[in-house]
Amino acid sequence: MTGRCVICGSQGWTYVHEYRGYLCRDHYQRYIEAKVDRCIKRQGLLNGVDKVLIALSGGKDSSVLAVVMKKLYSWRIRLAGLHIDLGIPGYSESARKSVLELSNRIELPIEIVKLQDYGFTIKEAADLYRKGVFNRPPCSVCGTVKRYLINLYAYEKGFEAIATGHNLDDLLLFSSMDIVTGDVTSLSKLLPRQDEGHPKLVPRIRPLCLLTNRETELYTKAAELPVSREKCPYKPPPRRLRSVLSEELDSIEEKVRGFKHMYAASLWSSIIPSLSIGKPVLRECSICGMPSSGRVCSFCRIRESLRNTGYKERFL
Ligand code: AMP
Ligand code: FES
Ligand code: ZN
Ligand code: ZN
Repeated sequence: MTGRCVICGSQGWTYVHEYRGYLCRDHYQRYIEAKVDRCIKRQGLLNGVDKVLIALSGGKDSSVLAVVMKKLYSWRIRLAGLHIDLGIPGYSESARKSVLELSNRIELPIEIVKLQDYGFTIKEAADLYRKGVFNRPPCSVCGTVKRYLINLYAYEKGFEAIATGHNLDDLLLFSSMDIVTGDVTSLSKLLPRQDEGHPKLVPRIRPLCLLTNRETELYTKAAELPVSREKCPYKPPPRRLRSVLSEELDSIEEKVRGFKHMYAASLWSSIIPSLSIGKPVLRECSICGMPSSGRVCSFCRIRESLRNTGYKERFL
C-alpha cells in the first residue's frame, strides 16, 4: 500500500528515502530536477557556457538529461541534441526512433550523424573482426567513433560543452574499476566537468552525476519518456569484477545511506585533484587535423585499417 505524497497529499507514486515518505509522480520529477540543478550549480557545470550539445543515445540516461536540461535551462542556454547512428541492425533503428520521438516531444532541435557517411558501420567492423581480418572488437571501435564524432560535430558547430548522460553509478563503477586496475589516467577523467585542454576538444559535462540508475529509471517512468530498451548485440558480457563491484556498491549504499555521495564527493574534491597526471601532449592528426597523441588519430587509424582490408569500394 502506498501512502500519500508528503508534499501535496495526493496519491503517492514512489518512496523517497530523503523524505522518509512517498512522492507523487509530479513531485518525484521535481525532486530529480532539483538534484540535477544542484549538481550543475555546485559543480559550476554551465558557468560561462551558453551553447550546449546533448549527446543522445536513445537510452534512459541521456533522455532524462535532455528533458531535465530543457526544463531547467532552455531559457538561458541554447540546447541541441546529437545522435550518432552507428549502423547496428535493430539496435540503431530503435535508438533513432526514441531519439526522434523525444526531440519532437520536448521540441529540442536534433541532428543525426551517420557513421556510414564516414565509410563504414559498426556492423561491418564487427563482421570483419569476426572474420579475423580487422583487429579491433566492435565495442572499442564504437567508443572511439562516438567520442570522435560527437566532439567533431560540437567543435565545428561552436558548442561550448558536450553533455552526456553518465550517472553517479556509472562514475563510481568506472572509478572503482580504475582504482583496482591502477588506471590513474582514466580515473583522473571522471570529474563532473572535464576540460581537455585543447581548443579543438570541447569540454564534457555530466549533469546527472548525482543521480543513481534507479533514479533515472524511475524518472523515465514518471515522465513516460520514449526510451529504447534494445540491447547492443556487440556488447560483451560484463567482466566478473565489474558486476561484483557494481553489486557491492549498491549493497554498501543499502547498509550505509549516503555512501555513494560520500564516495563521489571525495573522488571529486580530494582524490582526483591530488593526482599528478600530466596532460598528454597533443598534436594534430595528419589526416583529419583533429587532436591526437600520435601522427594519426585513432578514428583515422580505424578507417585506414578497414580500408586496408579492401572490403568496400566506397573507401577506394
Ligand atoms: P555509453 O557509453 O553507451 O554508456 O553512453 C554514455 C553517454 O554517451 C550517453 O549517456 C550519451 O550521452 C552518449 N551516447 C552514447 N551513445 C550515443 C550515440 N549513439 N549518439 C550520441 N550520444 C551517445
Ligand atoms: Fe557500441 Fe555496442 S558496439 S553500443
Ligand atoms: Zn505531490
Ligand atoms: Zn584523424
